[in-house]
Amino acid sequence: MTIWNLGSINSDHFYRVGHLPAPGETVLSAGMERGLGGKGANMSVAAARAGSHVSHIGAVGTDGQWAIDRLTEYGVDTRPIAVLDTLTGHAVIALDDAGENHIIVFPGANREISRDAVGLALAEATPGDILVMQNETNQQAFAAETGSKLGLKVAYAAAPFSAEAVTAVLPYLDILVLNHIEMAQLVEETGLLPGPKLGVDTVIVTKGAEGCVLYDRKNGWDAIGFDAIRVDAVDTTGAGDTFTGYFLAGIDRGMGAEDAIELAIKASALMVTRQGTADVIPDLKEVLDWS
Ligand code: RIB
Ligand code: NA
Repeated sequence: MTIWNLGSINSDHFYRVGHLPAPGETVLSAGMERGLGGKGANMSVAAARAGSHVSHIGAVGTDGQWAIDRLTEYGVDTRPIAVLDTLTGHAVIALDDAGENHIIVFPGANREISRDAVGLALAEATPGDILVMQNETNQQAFAAETGSKLGLKVAYAAAPFSAEAVTAVLPYLDILVLNHIEMAQLVEETGLLPGPKLGVDTVIVTKGAEGCVLYDRKNGWDAIGFDAIRVDAVDTTGAGDTFTGYFLAGIDRGMGAEDAIELAIKASALMVTRQGTADVIPDLKEVLDWS
């Protein structure tokens, strides 16, 4: 099957600082690195490295051919990526000594994806394929509705969080991944907890170093907890995207949600030990061999 990812593509600029700047403060960076990123691109690369066939739906600017080339090199089908007469998205990422980050994203082309481009791409999808989205592009609601009508398994990673954006796709979702702060905001907004009324079959609430919780219709929406793997964090950037990409790759290859989560936890823990985003996401063999 194919994983269709309507997702952002960014040029990530990393700055390493001793501590993250406070408001009004200027700090010097010890160095600068650039790489491929964007929550969407990271998920596509993660799922492809986990062995899935991934088609990425998105857009870059006239300065973004390198990003398409790199996604292709990483095994992602890039035919549904448009080159628009604008700027490619980019992210400014400040990392402190503890591996924590501050990120500023300029969406650029990522927010100028046309409805037609999404429709044309999804016209090639087959029932049972997976569609995944995040909140760094436009067209999520249209894609979710189209995907749902076509019989795709529709997944959404609610980052960066917007209650309005989640609410717009909620009726079409089969899988929702979000962190515990976002879950609390969603509950506040909708009054709904994971369960029959929220109507999403599989909800995963991530809690960083505390692991994650699965609520699945198959288990009567009972909360099932998973521990994280303790590692020395070098750079947490992209770990959440790696988690979601690996989880969906697991589902794509027929694993149950619990086994797919175990695989995703391992992949994202390994990712936290690496500086960078899409360029350094581990492949399946590295994840399985790592202990
Ligand atoms: O989740 C990490 C990603 O967030 C980075 O790659 C950056 O581009 C931003 O989208
Ligand atoms: Na990283």
